[in-house]
Amino acid sequence: MYAERVVSGMRPTGALHLGHYHGVLLNWVKLQHEYPCLFFVADWHALTTQYDDPRNIHNNVTDMVVDWLAAGIDPNQAVIFRQSHVPEHAELHLLLSMMTPLGWLERVPTYKDQQEKLSGKDLTTYGFLGYPLLMAADILIYRADRVPVGEDQVPHIEFSREIVRRFNHMYGREPGFEEKAKEAVKKLGGKKARRYEELRTRFQQEGDKEAIQEAHALLEDIQHLSVADRERLFGYLEGSGKMILAEPGALLTEASRMPGLDGQKMSKSYANTIALRESPDAVMKKVRAMPTDPARVRRTDPGDPQKCPVWQLHQVYSDDACRAWANAGCQSAGIGCLECKQPVIDGILKELAPMQERARYYESDPNLIRNILADGSEKAHELARETMRDVREAMGL
Ligand code: TRP
Ligand code: SF4
Repeated sequence: MYAERVVSGMRPTGALHLGHYHGVLLNWVKLQHEYPCLFFVADWHALTTQYDDPRNIHNNVTDMVVDWLAAGIDPNQAVIFRQSHVPEHAELHLLLSMMTPLGWLERVPTYKDQQEKLSGKDLTTYGFLGYPLLMAADILIYRADRVPVGEDQVPHIEFSREIVRRFNHMYGREPGFEEKAKEAVKKLGGKKARRYEELRTRFQQEGDKEAIQEAHALLEDIQHLSVADRERLFGYLEGSGKMILAEPGALLTEASRMPGLDGQKMSKSYANTIALRESPDAVMKKVRAMPTDPARVRRTDPGDPQKCPVWQLHQVYSDDACRAWANAGCQSAGIGCLECKQPVIDGILKELAPMQERARYYESDPNLIRNILADGSEKAHELARETMRDVREAMGL
């Protein structure tokens, strides 16, 4: 449909750890080579739950961006910015709020879940209820069609799609749409105009979805078309009116199995993490202190790797030969647990070393991050401004 574009955001929660790296950032690093990508720090989203103590947010933003860059997000490949630096997100959120039924927001599963989970905090606020709508605005403002998220966020993407459909239905019917669309068809020029009409007829009479795809490809290829005309032609194909906003799709990130130091999923709330900027010494101490199979009380007691969280880390960091060595050595009491942990320590340190080197570079001069964010918000702003122009016009503002 629109330019394939990837958008994703992360709330600034403090130092990122290996769970974020394997669960999210590796995927972002890959995506940045495949699509135009926008990655932003969702600092307003952080405020929906941290409104009573926002002082940490600023430092967390900088820290998180350093961690992103350390992980390999490349500011020359992806647009990196801070949500609050692009106020169009807020304007779109406001305008969308006018037509968003309260019931839709109350029904988003995270609303009640999070209220229960963070029960120490009053989350019966206007801002928190609007969390999914702000997220929809983040996505729709860039007309992004691919949003990499974890499973927990999928309902938010679905919600965004519903908002788009409602919006286009409500405001997409500009006066004289037919005439304007026909004018736009003429502008395609003889051969392409005829092809477009054929494809449109094929879809309208036979419901042929491939015709739609082909027509989209045809329109994408035409450089001289204005944004407004392009949208009219997209809308005219399906007879729905002008498509002002585009329906995004989730790009489901495979659930990361990154285990923490205790065998549970690595997560700050379980205090079982290794930070991306953890010092080598701390990594060593943390892994050495990991619990192992409780049956191995003495060095001579055989163990069962299935009952040991270190074994799970071997799945991430060791090759087949090393795993075979650990598995056999554990069951025969041929190796001790500290010996078994060493390759895991080496693997983690090897993974972290290049990240920490990049981090040191960005830590060395605060201007680096500031400039990257300034540059990113300028680029994002340009895209956002275009969408807002259409949205305002459609709503008669
Ligand atoms: N809600 C997301 C999370 O908690 C963060 C986020 C905010 C986001 N806006 C977004 C993700 C837009 C993708 C697209 O993980
Ligand atoms: Fe765990 Fe390795 Fe010790 Fe076995 S030898 S209990 S797998 S650390």
